[in-house]
Amino acid sequence: MNILGFESSCDETGLAVVNTEKGLLAHALHSQIAMHREYGGVVPELASRDHIRRVIPLTQQVLDEAGLALDDIDAIAYTAGPGLAGALLVGASVAQAMAWSLNKPSIAIHHLEGHLLSPLLAEPRPEFPFIALLVSGGHTQIMRVDAVGKYELLGETLDDAAGEAFDKTAQLLGLGYPGGPALSRLAEQGDATAIELPRPMLHSKDLDFSFSGLKTAVMTRMRQLEKQGVFDEQKRADLAAATEAAIVDVLAAKAIKALKQTGLRRLVVAGGVGANRHLREQLQQAMTRLRATVYFPPLELCTDNGAMIAFAAALRVQAGLVNLQAPKHYGFAIRPRWDLHSLVAAGNPT
Ligand code: KG4
Ligand code: ZN
Repeated sequence: MNILGFESSCDETGLAVVNTEKGLLAHALHSQIAMHREYGGVVPELASRDHIRRVIPLTQQVLDEAGLALDDIDAIAYTAGPGLAGALLVGASVAQAMAWSLNKPSIAIHHLEGHLLSPLLAEPRPEFPFIALLVSGGHTQIMRVDAVGKYELLGETLDDAAGEAFDKTAQLLGLGYPGGPALSRLAEQGDATAIELPRPMLHSKDLDFSFSGLKTAVMTRMRQLEKQGVFDEQKRADLAAATEAAIVDVLAAKAIKALKQTGLRRLVVAGGVGANRHLREQLQQAMTRLRATVYFPPLELCTDNGAMIAFAAALRVQAGLVNLQAPKHYGFAIRPRWDLHSLVAAGNPT
């Protein structure tokens, strides 16, 4: 069965074709990063308009790359939420219109479920059950995953997400958007031990996070250094390295705590921050000590993409969680706010 998937929840237009037996056949992506850079963040209206411009050419591109015609597509998946409402509507309306014209089912996918299952696109594939550390620009959660559609929230951020902490501190340091990769690059030149920053909630008994205080701590340190007239390029890099180390230390500590608490020995990391080299290395080392294994999505599939959406749909189909009848009514039911743990385990969420 061939599934065409659409992702348009934020600033990436992603398209992909996944075959339920053969896996990923083709995927294509257009990132709007360059367009939003001059505004220092995503401008929702511009994002929606750009999705409209890109979505049809990208659809043609993935079909060509997969060697398929539109008629060969058996179901259409799209990100129904969470995300920017206008941006989500582009993917949802194009997907629904295409499904309607082909008289095929449409499958609404939760964006975070896409991230969560994306490490299963890589080899070796983690077996269930596992702990998932979901670290994106909007979410930081630790979940227990027992099967496709069976997710238990163990902990989450009480305020800013880890990606947001990267982005906001990067902005303070005068780095561009998106901040995560830029801050991480600058951190390579710095010494993380030169400046001390707090590790919020590192020793709390739960699996929750709090990152909003970190940007205040960074700002305070920056002001102090500026006042002393010693805030040079090296100090900027040291501050970047210290910020990265603080975020990574807390993420790693809580992921390890979740493994210990549940007795599980498989950790899956997903979402944009999962591309962070420092996080990957620190977790790899910790897993060796714990005799556990950490799994990551392929690097280019850490940030938003269509492959994870088509793939999550394929896994839901294989798990028998999707109604494959073409619906009588194709609605545009998007959910800009949508908790992953409220995802119903059976049936098509729309
Ligand atoms: O999953 P994602 O592409 O979008 C959301 O669903 O939010 O994640 C984007 C986030 C941004 O905050 C970005 O700064 C962060 O992931 N990010 C990184 C890296 N690459 C992307 N953070 C740290 N290090 C990276 N290498
Ligand atoms: Zn995402």
